Amino acid sequence: MIILGIETSCDETAAAVVKNGREILSQSLASSVKMHATTGGIIPEFAAREQIKSIPTVIGDATKDISPNLIDAIAVTYGPGLIGSLLVGVETAKTLSLLWKKPLIPVNHLVGHLYANFIDTSPPPFPALLLLASGGHTDLVLIKNHGDFLWLGGTRDDAAGEAFDKCARILGLGYPGGPAISKEAAKHQLPPKPFLPRPLIDDSGFDFSFSGLKTALWRLLNTPPNLRPNLSKLAFEVESSIVDVLVTKTLNAALKYRPKSILLSGGVAANTKLRRVMAKKVSGLNFHPLLYIPPPSLCTDNAVFVAAAAYYNFRQIEPFRLSPNPELTITNQN
Ligand code: KG4
Ligand code: ZN
Repeated sequence: MIILGIETSCDETAAAVVKNGREILSQSLASSVKMHATTGGIIPEFAAREQIKSIPTVIGDATKDISPNLIDAIAVTYGPGLIGSLLVGVETAKTLSLLWKKPLIPVNHLVGHLYANFIDTSPPPFPALLLLASGGHTDLVLIKNHGDFLWLGGTRDDAAGEAFDKCARILGLGYPGGPAISKEAAKHQLPPKPFLPRPLIDDSGFDFSFSGLKTALWRLLNTPPNLRPNLSKLAFEVESSIVDVLVTKTLNAALKYRPKSILLSGGVAANTKLRRVMAKKVSGLNFHPLLYIPPPSLCTDNAVFVAAAAYYNFRQIEPFRLSPNPELTITNQN
């Protein structure tokens, strides 16, 4: 089965054609991230305008060598995300579905992130423990089967990616914050004695809370320059704090639920330190779950995972009945 996936939930405009949920036949992506870097964050109205500009080119690119006759269905992210951005993808997908007479499959973006772990590899065995850490969400979820999820916990305030973005902004390191903080942190080799909080790390539950991190950082920056750590040391600590919390909570959940596989996803899963520390800790467990970490380009937003999610959750909707839902959570099934 060949599916055209479309993703426009935030600041990426993406289209991809994927065979049987795992083989990428083509993909195209345009990002307005550089524009948002100039404003230090996403301005929703600007993001939506960029989506409208990019969608024809991106879909044209992804389908230039693939005749519509070969496409079996059209999948589109319908939430969560920015309403203006979502509308662009949803209305385009509805139009194509009607024009080409193909089934339309709505995809929950958060569920989509999970399916980055199914591309170009043998499918992860269930039950799988998913850590989803993106710009807008941080969730730990036990995936019992396709469409059968047990939500274990999530952030009470800022998401992990949001914490990276806000701390980078405080440090004047630009947007997106994750890669900017990592780059600065790499200049500092020796781990300092921890001086920032690791929120909720000793709590036995699976909730996260990252907002205190930016407050602690802000307080530090208000101390005299000669009394505070330098920029690279601060960046190192921010990254370590977020990674420590994500890894500890994931390992705690793994010990409790003993999944057959552990899956990372979301933009923060592109973080080199998170990938390295998670691999080391998982290999030290006294049982042996398989660890899946998608390549960085599939961790951040793309349309490949949208098409893959639709393949494994093929639920067709009548085009006129589909509208975006900016508030979806990961347990709202598509
Ligand atoms: O999944 P994603 O592309 O979009 C959302 O669905 O939110 O995630 C974007 C988030 C941003 O907050 C960005 O700072 C973070 O992922 N991110 C990273 C890295 N690359 C992107 N965080 C840490 N390290 C990275 N290498
Ligand atoms: Zn995302």
